[in-house]
Amino acid sequence: MAVAYERKAFPPVPEIKRIGIIGAGQMGGGIAQVAATSGILVDLVDLSAERIEATLQRIDGLLDRQIAKGNLTAEEKEAALSRIHTGESFDKLSEADLVVEAATENEEIKKKIFRELVPHLKADALVASNTSSISITRLAAQTDRPERFIGMHFMNPVPAMKLVEVIRGIATEEETYQAIRRLAEKMGKQAVTAEDFPAFIVNRVLLPMINEAVYTLYEGVGTVESIDTAMKLGANHPMGPLELADFIGLDTALSIMQVLYEGLADSKYRPCPLLVKYVEAGWLGRKVKRGFYDYRGATPVPTR
Ligand SMILES: NC(=O)c1ccc[n+]([C@@H]2O[C@H](COP(=O)([O-])OP(=O)(O)OC[C@H]3O[C@@H](n4cnc5c(N)ncnc54)[C@H](O)[C@@H]3O)[C@@H](O)[C@H]2O)c1
Repeated sequence: MAVAYERKAFPPVPEIKRIGIIGAGQMGGGIAQVAATSGILVDLVDLSAERIEATLQRIDGLLDRQIAKGNLTAEEKEAALSRIHTGESFDKLSEADLVVEAATENEEIKKKIFRELVPHLKADALVASNTSSISITRLAAQTDRPERFIGMHFMNPVPAMKLVEVIRGIATEEETYQAIRRLAEKMGKQAVTAEDFPAFIVNRVLLPMINEAVYTLYEGVGTVESIDTAMKLGANHPMGPLELADFIGLDTALSIMQVLYEGLADSKYRPCPLLVKYVEAGWLGRKVKRGFYDYRGATPVPTR
């Protein structure tokens, strides 16, 4: 259901110099890093202070690696880190020209975030969601500014992956779309436009393939290792599908399959029961050190 807000005329779309990010997880941290190294000020907000701390440390380490490779100087690293400000409440986002939501892939959580965010936004601020699959039009309807709302879908890991999918909701205005494309370019990314249908382009194609790999495991056609090796050597994929599922996060992968299954009402998208079982066990992949592989030792060990 859309939220009823009083319609108002908007001031012009601002130049995006400061972005707020909601969620300091794998994606929020990556977006913060790339924005900060592109000269953009960042306000990074998460419910969990520990998560923010861990993410800042991760960014610190990743920037050190860039220095070691000769891609960044120590001064540039310090300048980038000094652009990232953090906090645990949406008050921190009141100066942002754009707020990018990168919280947990759950529609109810995201809708609640947008309803709570609205009173803190600048009048001219744009709002984006990094959702992998949820309708931009439905999320936009939770705000007072569907015209200024857009999907900005970065890929994981954000610093390494060149693509940003840009998804217009039914109400998204042209100026908002153009501003987000310019921002993607400023962040060194290539934008591709997708229509607002479940899971957009990349995940509409990728997740059913991963889900099918889990079925292949579930039905005993192959082991974790044989499935991943087969797809790496036989289809020239840089990572096996189960390794990739662990990297994405099995909760996120399941959630995307559920969105496809419900949104397109087609049984071909039915989430594999084995994927459901892994998520129920809390074996969510790399981020918790266990998924289709166990990452607690020196080298990953298949769990089946
Ligand atoms: N993981 C991927 O490969 C990938 C790729 C592209 C897009 N995405 C999308 O990015 C989003 C985030 O995914 P992720 O992998 O970073 O997840 P994650 O679990 O690593 O991080 C989510 C973060 O959101 C925080 N959070 C939850 N509710 C919050 C709230 N109300 N306010 C502030 N913070 C809150 C959590 O504390 C957590 O730190 C999802 O929508 C996901 O679909 C993920």
